[in-house]
Amino acid sequence: MLAELALQALTPAAPLARRFGLLREGIALWSRGQRQRKAWEPHQARCRAIIAEIAEALPRRRKVVVLGSGPARDIPLDLLCESFDEVVLIDIVHLPLLRLKTWREKKVSLISRDLTGAMAWLTGEAAERQDPVADLVDDDSVDLVVSINLLSQLAWPVADWLEDNPARAAALPENLPGRCIAWHLDDLARFKGHVCLISDVEMIERDRAGAIHERLDLMYGVARPQEDESWPWPVAPFGEAERDREYVHKVCVWRNYRLAA
Ligand SMILES: C[S@@+](CC[C@H](N)C(=O)[O-])C[C@H]1O[C@@H](n2cnc3c(N)ncnc32)[C@H](O)[C@@H]1O
Repeated sequence: MLAELALQALTPAAPLARRFGLLREGIALWSRGQRQRKAWEPHQARCRAIIAEIAEALPRRRKVVVLGSGPARDIPLDLLCESFDEVVLIDIVHLPLLRLKTWREKKVSLISRDLTGAMAWLTGEAAERQDPVADLVDDDSVDLVVSINLLSQLAWPVADWLEDNPARAAALPENLPGRCIAWHLDDLARFKGHVCLISDVEMIERDRAGAIHERLDLMYGVARPQEDESWPWPVAPFGEAERDREYVHKVCVWRNYRLAA
């Protein structure tokens, strides 16, 4: 709790990140990851291994762009720094621990950005959605793009915000959470370099007897190509959110998303 309060005070975050609850969520995610270190490690290790394999197989390793880098527990950061000339980590919030870890690493740059491109439009600060990857898709030196456990996270803060702001929501197009997912998929398909997409797509709520009480489509009905592989990620094991319920997400991987799309 104290660590969370300290992080809340010490983390620089844009007003939009605060308004959409993403500073609070970023800290809560870090904290839950600490508590569930053992339960989350197989998922994070598998993400790191896949990214490492893809990076090692590339013919050229100039710039890697990581979308949704967060606390960087699911990316092989040291390996990326060893193998690429430049490592660009993009997230709406960068926690101080990651800033500390990377501040001496000249190859690494941290960019704070809303990857939905829609938040300023929703709040009325912009007339339309802004392209969140405009400067990156034309950069020929980007040899690898990794979207890491971000896709599902683009939708729910927007859904929550629209629910809290019904008057503004009524003036906006329908299914904006789903559109945020679709926009990100379109954004990924625009890159020229290799694109690896890893995301949870479904949440399952189960009791101790194994009975399923809810299945939630985290993709808001947005279609995507057949994944290359998938596994369960116990995001909230029994006792984390509720004593007798566990929440397990299905994580999918598209090793070469542009090719699959
Ligand atoms: C589940 S976490 C990703 C996991 C992270 N790679 C790790 O090491 O644990 C989702 C990340 O998406 C980021 N995020 C959520 N909405 C975002 C947005 N609109 N733009 C950019 N990043 C966003 C969050 O700040 C968070 O770091």
